Amino acid sequence: MKNLAVLTSGGDASGMNAAIRAVVRTGQARGMNTWGVFQGYSGLIEGNFKRLGTRDVSNIIQRGGTILGSARCPEFRTEEGVELAIRRLRGAGIDGLVVIGGNGSQTGANALHKMGFPVVGVASTIDNDLYGSEVTIGVDTALNVALNAIDNLKVTASSHNRALMVEVMGRKCGYLALMAGIAGGAEAVVLPEIDVVPEQLAERIQDVYERGKPHAIVVVAEGAKYNAAGLCEYFEQHNLLRGYEFRSTVLGYVQRGAVPTCADRLLGTRLGSEAAEQIIAGKHGVLVGCSHGELITTPLEEVVTGEKPLPPWFLKAADMFAR
Ligand code: F6P
Repeated sequence: MKNLAVLTSGGDASGMNAAIRAVVRTGQARGMNTWGVFQGYSGLIEGNFKRLGTRDVSNIIQRGGTILGSARCPEFRTEEGVELAIRRLRGAGIDGLVVIGGNGSQTGANALHKMGFPVVGVASTIDNDLYGSEVTIGVDTALNVALNAIDNLKVTASSHNRALMVEVMGRKCGYLALMAGIAGGAEAVVLPEIDVVPEQLAERIQDVYERGKPHAIVVVAEGAKYNAAGLCEYFEQHNLLRGYEFRSTVLGYVQRGAVPTCADRLLGTRLGSEAAEQIIAGKHGVLVGCSHGELITTPLEEVVTGEKPLPPWFLKAADMFAR
């Protein structure tokens, strides 16, 4: 292998730049020509490649987002799209690719692998819903952003004696909501993994009110049966609004653009470097992830079919601490 490329795909995650930098610098240290592919799989199909040297990845480790840009690319879900991408890569002399991203991105990586192109994935998504890594790039930063917001919301909720429904990202997974809820001292969490009964939730908030707390914080995962506004609406329509005044707020994309935390910079560096080492050593068709502090590789085929449950201890503990 002589020419190694890297791309970022799907939702951007803080720490992606650390991973790009690590792929490029590890590749360079092993005598590779290193390339960046711009705008994810769209750039692959369009042949939007550029040589990246060590200096091109200077001064990026502290930046959120991705210097390569990212995209969601429906065309890449077709066989023709994947074939075209491989022709573009081969045409540029590129003989290996590192794909930094989450579920959709690794499904794309697996398609390339199945068509015989050497590819290694790097586990990156704020949702932490990717099988093959206990923790993924971007989760720690997104959680810290959510926590800062929750801390602030608690202050204003207390001043006004309000219940605040805070909606966090996570697609169909409740990981961010669960962890932000526990670390933020929320009175309740609403997750896609557990069917919420609005009447029970309202009762619980009422109970918090009656115990004299000046605020109630409910962290709601965006993929739950009811979103934050939907819950407030339900309470209103069913005459369940008692005690507190209710408000809802959606954190949304602010969770994605922040300066990466130390943990995400280190995780990105570790996973990116290992992905380059793997592919250069001729081991491909795998995702590089991290479990119990150790680097692990998992076949992409397993990654795209596997399911990652929420951590059981936290799931059980959430209820006990939400008092
Ligand atoms: O997968 C990361 C994520 O931020 C999810 O939490 C969210 O549901 C989704 O991306 C939003 O996607 P888009 O950037 O395409 O709007």
